[in-house]
Amino acid sequence: MKIVITGGAGFIGGNFLHYMLKKYPNYEMICVDKLTYAGNIETLETVMNNPYFKFIKADIADRTAIYKIFEEEKPDIIVNFAAESHVDRSIEDPSIFLQTNVIGTQVLLDACRKFGIDRYHQVSTDEVYGDLPLDKPDLFFTEETPIHASSPYSASKASADLLVQAYYRTFGIPVTISRCSNNYGPYHFPEKLIPLMIANVLNDKPLPVYGTGENVRDWLYVEDHCIAIDLIIHKGKIGEIYNIGGHNERSNLEVVQTIITELGKGEIRYVADRAGHDKRYAIDPTKIYKELGWIPKTSFDEGIKKTIKWYLDNKCWWQNIISGEYKEYYKKMYEDKLA
Ligand code: NAD
Ligand code: DAU
Repeated sequence: MKIVITGGAGFIGGNFLHYMLKKYPNYEMICVDKLTYAGNIETLETVMNNPYFKFIKADIADRTAIYKIFEEEKPDIIVNFAAESHVDRSIEDPSIFLQTNVIGTQVLLDACRKFGIDRYHQVSTDEVYGDLPLDKPDLFFTEETPIHASSPYSASKASADLLVQAYYRTFGIPVTISRCSNNYGPYHFPEKLIPLMIANVLNDKPLPVYGTGENVRDWLYVEDHCIAIDLIIHKGKIGEIYNIGGHNERSNLEVVQTIITELGKGEIRYVADRAGHDKRYAIDPTKIYKELGWIPKTSFDEGIKKTIKWYLDNKCWWQNIISGEYKEYYKKMYEDKLA
């Protein structure tokens, strides 16, 4: 079995590669990654010498490069994690989101069509469904919930999902799609809520909470997402969409307060809200539970402790990131907000 994993130098793709190389020591795994600001080769350091692993630096939107990889490697399965993934960046500049998330997906699908594969899996997001109101806790996203994207990021991911479905219907490409809620865990880039707050506490910086902090996310420990994708690519039904989420809803304020409690310090600063800020995400995972037997193993209370410990034990990994171009990013995004 040969699997191409795009975006494997990023947060979830990196965790997936580590998980799969351990679970299937005889599978060949190829990571295709452009190494954007979010890609970090250090995440893959411990598997670089594994004879079943190969890293190829390439842009998924570069047709020539992608066709060459498919022609030479002849993969059986493609799992597409590669994306621009940060909502705040998509509000600053949407263009690269369309280029990578939409055109990149199209190039991969064209390569599947031209060279043939057993399965193409699209790693999508619950953000394609838009948001839910805060005052109706009995509402959840199911696979039938209409697409209703709010940000340029989620609009680009929704567009990619539509393309994947169109290539299934029109060209018969064997596809599956998963739509997961917010992940957290090791190797999470410190522009996102949880790692940003941990890094700021440890660096004695204020903790910027957008708006009132009452927005709700449905947090899933990243390993549970990896387990779900593993099940889908092996047993999921072709043409189907699977929602992934574990009923771990928390308001942003609750999350930040938990981090403060665990680390014993931290000062919250309420800052200007995100434009178009989605209120609440909440997944109904009934389908993946009934069809594939997936249930999350790690509760939020346990996962957040493990995550904080990882950031304490791996300071080099994230300190290297925040000492580079991240400084400019942080200044641009937070200087006015925190002034
Ligand atoms: P990330 O930003 O941490 O990593 C993205 C990776 O993709 C990086 O390694 C980057 O270098 C690579 N990449 C970007 N553009 C590329 C291109 N044009 N060609 C090749 N590689 C490119 O993202 P993440 O948080 O790990 O998310 C991975 C996927 O999962 C994304 O598709 C995202 O939409 C989806 N997702 C994320 C979450 C979450 O909570 N983080 C939840 C649900 C779904
Ligand atoms: O739901 C899945 C999505 O989750 C993925 O598709 C995205 O790739 C991923 O980035 C994530 O999107 P969010 O926008 O929910 O994640 P983020 O960590 O950026 O923000 C989480 C919440 O925290 C959100 O309500 C905004 C808030 N926030 C975020 C940051 C960075 C703050 O209050 N302060 C901050 O500094």
